[in-house]
Amino acid sequence: MSTSGATGTRSTTSFSALTGLASLAILLQGLWAGIFLEHDGQRDAASGWIDVHARGGEVALVLAVAATVVALWRLRPRRDLWIGSLVLVVLLVLESYLGGLIRDDGKDALTAVHIPLAMAIMAVSVWLPLRARSRR
Ligand code: HEM
Repeated sequence: MSTSGATGTRSTTSFSALTGLASLAILLQGLWAGIFLEHDGQRDAASGWIDVHARGGEVALVLAVAATVVALWRLRPRRDLWIGSLVLVVLLVLESYLGGLIRDDGKDALTAVHIPLAMAIMAVSVWLPLRARSRR
């Protein structure tokens, strides 16, 4: 399968748009977290924003899965893109799982993993649309 021509350009644009929107959703995760952490210790005041943060994580995951489908289906020769977006999906699932352990099982110590992992996820999500623009 070739990625040259108009179809390849359209697919690359779709991939860039999906991963670009995923990185925006991921950036916003920091905003929602900043708001609920302001209410640290007052779980009732914070819970609405923690829910927003949970939904935001789902939005980022759906966008990353969609980008992976586009890359596997239309951009298969671009191994950098489909492997990279697959890594993003795996990291987002892990991040959400850790978040659930913090919230539901009270494993607060995992926040020290959850936050740096979010930064790594941010880096991957910004790298992907930039990488998509470069020719192999
Ligand atoms: C890649 C982006 C991120 C994703 C996908 C994500 C996902 C999640 C999810 C799914 C939860 C569990 C919510 C629930 O069970 O209702 C959670 C909890 C949490 N997240 Fe994130 N998160 C991200 C980034 C961040 C960032 C940047 C911070 C802080 C700067 C953060 C801080 C927290 C904290 C403190 C909790 C626990 C909330 C509590 O119960 O006190 N997260 N996260």
